[in-house]
Amino acid sequence: MIPSRRAALMVGRVTRRDPMMTAETTGRAACLIGWPAAHSRSPLIHHYWLRLHGITGGYSIEAIPPEGFAEFVMHLSTHGFAGANVTIPHKERALQLTEPDERAKAVGAANTLYYDGAILRSTNTDVEGFISNLDVAAPGWDRTGDALVLGAGGASRAVVFGLVERGIRRIHLANRTMERARVLADRFGARVIPAAWNTLSDLLPRTGLLVNTTSLGMNGQPPLDIDLALLPRDAVVADLVYVPLETPLLSAARARGLRTADGLGMLLHQAVRGFELWFGLRPAVTQELRALVEADLL
Ligand code: ATR
Repeated sequence: MIPSRRAALMVGRVTRRDPMMTAETTGRAACLIGWPAAHSRSPLIHHYWLRLHGITGGYSIEAIPPEGFAEFVMHLSTHGFAGANVTIPHKERALQLTEPDERAKAVGAANTLYYDGAILRSTNTDVEGFISNLDVAAPGWDRTGDALVLGAGGASRAVVFGLVERGIRRIHLANRTMERARVLADRFGARVIPAAWNTLSDLLPRTGLLVNTTSLGMNGQPPLDIDLALLPRDAVVADLVYVPLETPLLSAARARGLRTADGLGMLLHQAVRGFELWFGLRPAVTQELRALVEADLL
C-alpha cells in the first residue's frame, strides 16, 4: 500500500483495509486513481447508487503518483478493487497497461478499468456520457443538421468520436489553434472537417448541434463569445463546462428558446457504465442524484 493514499470512503459493512478481505470476499469496491488526489464528485455519485440499490460496496479516491501507477493497476484486485476510474495524469498510461476497447483506443485515453475474468479491460465512458446526456436532454438532437464542436483537446476527442460513432454526417471542428483541429480531424476521417475560429459565423446557420469543449465559460475564464442568433431555431447547444452549472453559453441558448445539454448531465451519465461494470447493475441518473451533486458543486 502506498502511504499517501487517502482513507477509503466505504458504504455498508465492507472494510477494505482488512488484509484478509478482498473485493471477492466482501462487497465490491472501486476507486478513482489520480495524482494529486483532486476533489471529485465520483464518490458522491457511486455512493448514492450503492445506497439506493442496497449494494455493499465502496468507492474511494486513491492518490497514486505516476511512478506507482503501473504497479497499482497491475495489482488492482490485490489492492481490493473490482475496477477503477482513472484521471489526470494517468489516462494515457492506463490505455497501455490494459486491454482497451474501441472507444478508449479512438479517444487515446482510458478513464474506466474493469476485470473480465483475469483480464483488465478499459473503456472511455466520456463518449457514452456525452451521447446519453444529449439523448435524455434533447431527444432527436441527431436529426437536426451538422454538428459544430469547439475545442480540440482531450474532451473534444471523446465528443467527436461519439458523434462519429452515432453516424453524424458532418462534424465541423473549430479550434483557436487550427493545427490541433487538423490533427484531430485526421484521426477521425473525412466526416470531421477542421475549421478556423474566424469562420464560426458562416458555420452557425447550418449547425444543428453546437458543443463547447473548450474551457471558455468556466469560472475564472472568459465567456465563449459567439452570436447564437445565427443558429437555427431547432438547434441544440451542449456545454461540457459544469462550473458554473449554467454557463453564459447555456443561458444565452435558453434565452433564445434553444434546447440545451449541460456539463453536469454528462458527468453523471459518464459514471453509469463504470458502476454497471463493477457492481453488475445499470443505475439511472435521477433528479435526486442531480440535486445531490448540484448541492455539492454550490
Ligand atoms: P481538455 O482535455 O479538457 O479538452 P485541453 O486539452 O487543455 O483540455 O484543451 C482546452 C481547449 O480549450 C483547447 O481546444 C483550447 O484551444 P487551443 O488548442 O487553441 O489551446 C481551448 N481554449 C482554452 N482557452 C481558450 C481561449 N481563451 N479561446 C479559445 N479557446 C480556448
